[in-house]
Amino acid sequence: MKFLITAGPTREPLDPARYITNRSSGRMGYALAGAARHEGHEVMLISGPTHLDVPPGVDFLQVETAQQMYEAVRDYSKGADVAILCAAVADYRPVAYSEQKIKKVGERLVLELERTPDILGSMRSVFGFRGYLIGFAAETQDVETYAREKLVRKQCDMIVANDVSRSDIGFDSRDNEVVLVFPDRCEYPEKDTKEHIAMHIIEHATILRP
Ligand code: PMT
Repeated sequence: MKFLITAGPTREPLDPARYITNRSSGRMGYALAGAARHEGHEVMLISGPTHLDVPPGVDFLQVETAQQMYEAVRDYSKGADVAILCAAVADYRPVAYSEQKIKKVGERLVLELERTPDILGSMRSVFGFRGYLIGFAAETQDVETYAREKLVRKQCDMIVANDVSRSDIGFDSRDNEVVLVFPDRCEYPEKDTKEHIAMHIIEHATILRP
């Protein structure tokens, strides 16, 4: 099967020296890519900037901004059987990019931000993706409720939800503890390394894909 997997953060530039980003290390997405490849699947990994090594045998495309990730996913989702969107894509980006470094003037600086394209939300409605679609949900409260709402609104087959208010799981940690939200049920795997959680998700995707 062909897997498309996104990972890592995006960077939304403000000026030549600065950008807006988040705490994603890429570990969860890279673990998914490694697990899918280990199971013998063809894998395209589209990633924002990370310090990780690409798992052997995985095809790789590095991007920087949400817009670049949107375009790459649009192009590579066409032949994929399973898409897993694990990247922590910026929801907002600066309206204007300053060609010159923004100078330190005044006590306050107000930044105007605009929405980035919703990649997961475009998979079915804009890109016409018909394969098995797995989204992630990074929440800090009511994790399962918000994840189920995302599952329905973005027409996913599975949402992998994690509580990113915890320091021992989620962003930039070795382990994760997730809730797998399906249209008809939820599963609660035990806290484990991201590599083991990834194997579990890939097994589900392989079995459940129509
Ligand atoms: O990278 P690590 O350090 O290992 O951390 C792992 C993780 C915490 C990043 C990962 O487990 C995780 O939760 N990834 C999703 C992060 C996120 O952006 O969640 P969200 O609830 O804001 O977004 C929901 C879904 O929409 C995600 O599938 C996301 O990829 C997608 N999205 C978000 C914004 C956007 N503009 N387009 C999108 O497609």
